[in-house]
Amino acid sequence: MVEGALKENALLGKTIVVTGGGTGLGKAMATYFSQLGANLVLTSRKLDVLEKTAQEITANTGNAVLAVSCDIREIAQVESLLKQSIDRFSRVDMLVNNAAGNFISPSERLSANAFSTVIDIVLKGTVNCTLTFGKDWIAKKQQASVLNIVTTYASTGSGFVVPSAIAKSGVLTLTRSLAVEWGKYGIRQNAIAPGPFPTKGAWDRLLPGELLEKFDFKNRVPLKRVGDHQELSNLAAFLLSDYATFINGEVVTIDGGEWLQGAGQFNSLEAIPQEMWDSIESNIRKTNKS
Ligand code: HXC
Ligand code: NAP
Repeated sequence: MVEGALKENALLGKTIVVTGGGTGLGKAMATYFSQLGANLVLTSRKLDVLEKTAQEITANTGNAVLAVSCDIREIAQVESLLKQSIDRFSRVDMLVNNAAGNFISPSERLSANAFSTVIDIVLKGTVNCTLTFGKDWIAKKQQASVLNIVTTYASTGSGFVVPSAIAKSGVLTLTRSLAVEWGKYGIRQNAIAPGPFPTKGAWDRLLPGELLEKFDFKNRVPLKRVGDHQELSNLAAFLLSDYATFINGEVVTIDGGEWLQGAGQFNSLEAIPQEMWDSIESNIRKTNKS
């Protein structure tokens, strides 16, 4: 079992808003932040899911968790999220843009609305949250930290998840752009690019039905395993925290080497059986002498 990496109380008294915080990786990160002493605001569209998670976390840690229903595509709802967070906790210190929408499909099968739905959740939603909280921090001259959860294909692009890839690369560009523009206000922006970390939300939409067996993520990762949620939570807590106050505009990949395995031109030679290497070597050596 992976253990929590940060010192006790590393986030004591900080208020952290986690979008998509009721499920999956958002829930895992939020739980760890609360264990480290943070107050939480969890937000997404489904209030019942958020409230259940909030109760679970408070029972686990004893720290305060506010559940706020908000569709991050709607700016008025995001402004209300900010107001409710400040009414409850007086201030917000950190924002984790974790909410996302995604599903696999050949791009030519997608309607205009399917495309814009994913782009609006991932890119517009992240912009809405970052700008709404950022403007408030700047007006109050308050230091803050933003963490955006992207993907490894935010840098490489990927077929079959094109709306998500476009939107996540936009979020990565937002991270790097505002890291510079808002550095002067003491507002840091960083991102994490996770490889495969099994969650119901992602796996139901990316590996439905028999794809789960046919497309086993473990085989794509040099370390031959998927990620543990605590591994991601440790990195997220570190990047948000005062241990990382000089890290700004960075994206940290946490994927067991997955994207590099796909990128290296000869990595597929892994498929060559060990016993074939003697004859391959001898053939190459013969060529060297000719
Ligand atoms: C084609 C589809 C579709 C599908 C929906 N649509 N599913 N088109 N194939 N499988 C179309 C609909 O027909 C509609 O277009 C449009 O998309 C909007 O669909 P709605 O269901 O009305 O949208 P909404 O209720 O807002 O739901 C959004 C959603 C849904 C993205 C479609 O999946 C969702 O709520 N997702 C949230 C959670 C999530 O996606 N988690 C996974 C994140 S994983 P028309 O034209 O008919 O109106 C991730 C990381 C990946 O991001 C990396 C892992 C390694
Ligand atoms: P998940 O459980 O489905 O999380 C997505 C969350 O986003 C849900 O809680 C959902 O809640 C929320 N959400 C969706 N649309 C929203 C909207 N319009 N407004 C507010 N909230 C909305 O999936 P996950 O795997 O944990 O993904 C979390 C993050 O990690 C995402 O950014 C994803 O891209 C990223 N990621 C995951 C993996 C992985 O392997 N799991 C890999 C790379 C990156 P509601 O439905 O209640 O709104």
